[in-house]
Amino acid sequence: PGAPLVDTRGRMVHDLRISVTDRCNFRCIYCMPREVFGTDYAFLPRKELLSFEEITRVARLFAERGVRKIRITGGEPLLRKHVENLVAQLAAIPDVELTLTTNGVLLPKMARTLREAGLHRVTVSLDAIDDATFRAMNDADYPVAAVLKGIAAAEEAGLSPVKVNMVVKRGVNDHNVIDMARHFRGTGHILRFIEFMDVGSSNGWEMNAVVPSRDIIERIDRVFPLEQVDPNYTGEVAERWRYRDGGGEIGVISSVTQAFCSTCTRIRLSTEGKLYTCLFAQSGHDLRTLLRDGASDAELDRAIAGVWQNRDDHYSEIRTANTRGLRKIEMSYIGG
Ligand code: GTP
Ligand code: 5AD
Ligand code: SF4
Ligand code: SF4
Repeated sequence: PGAPLVDTRGRMVHDLRISVTDRCNFRCIYCMPREVFGTDYAFLPRKELLSFEEITRVARLFAERGVRKIRITGGEPLLRKHVENLVAQLAAIPDVELTLTTNGVLLPKMARTLREAGLHRVTVSLDAIDDATFRAMNDADYPVAAVLKGIAAAEEAGLSPVKVNMVVKRGVNDHNVIDMARHFRGTGHILRFIEFMDVGSSNGWEMNAVVPSRDIIERIDRVFPLEQVDPNYTGEVAERWRYRDGGGEIGVISSVTQAFCSTCTRIRLSTEGKLYTCLFAQSGHDLRTLLRDGASDAELDRAIAGVWQNRDDHYSEIRTANTRGLRKIEMSYIGG
């Protein structure tokens, strides 16, 4: 194992996010709008995807360089055939927390298998507790009940605590903030409110649609008094709060109004094997060619180290009107 990796801004690599498919059964309006991701959209062909063995090889090398958290994402990662086999391979890497982010509807079928394969926890996206709002947001007619069944299945399988992500878009689902808080209070699940971000170039982002986390906390605090909780570790994305009456914990993720680039320790591996050093990176670094050309572990490690050591990204700190026109990578491709 080499020395810990440090980038040009003094940040270590700690968190590897692996996208295993660019497909999804939802068409969330802020992520895969139907106008862009329609029936004729060209998703990646099978042979372009990294195999589970290729992914695991990269993940192992990262773990030897200090990665302690691995998250499987997508698209919808549970659509990747036999993803439980990847979970089993990644779970064999020592000293790494293994989690997965999903829209939840396949969890009733898969939670137990994933748990048995060695998955530790899941994060489930749920943008509203009111059915009409939720259906409008996922734009694929999935009801809230389908996701709630998934959350229950995850809990029963021991994939807990379950974190629930709500992306808040002004005028679309922000009227549901209090009802979401009420629903998850006392359940042991951790609800997190995420500021709508300008990832990708297809979701028509504008600042007006962002509800600052401050507002969310104030709105909830008026109904259910809150107090702040210390972070679990430096660089944690979500700011933690708890209900003063013991109703449990919530979080806010303020990537727009309070950028957290200065402590960003995340790297992303795309479905087709490119490394992205930022959610907003203009391009990725291809590892697949090296993997398929028979590179040794030492050669791969050198490539990985080089990518991190040259990293200078801090997009959320410099976001302005001018950065809006940039061609950005889609969240469904790079993984949230
Ligand atoms: P845990 O809390 O440990 O489960 O992990 P996490 O906080 O990384 O959770 P999750 O993967 O669910 O991330 C939550 C959301 O935060 C993502 O979906 C993104 O919207 C946002 N986010 C995560 N990482 C980044 C990042 O590096 N940059 C920006 N700008 N936003 C991020
Ligand atoms: N802004 C904020 N969060 C987003 N997600 C997807 N697109 C965006 C966006 N534009 C979230 C999903 C999921 C996580 C993986 O990323 O809702 O919870
Ligand atoms: Fe699918 Fe998640 Fe994107 Fe929604 S946010 S379209 S569930 S990948
Ligand atoms: Fe990290 Fe880039 Fe997000 Fe900043 S914008 S927190 S550098 S991924």
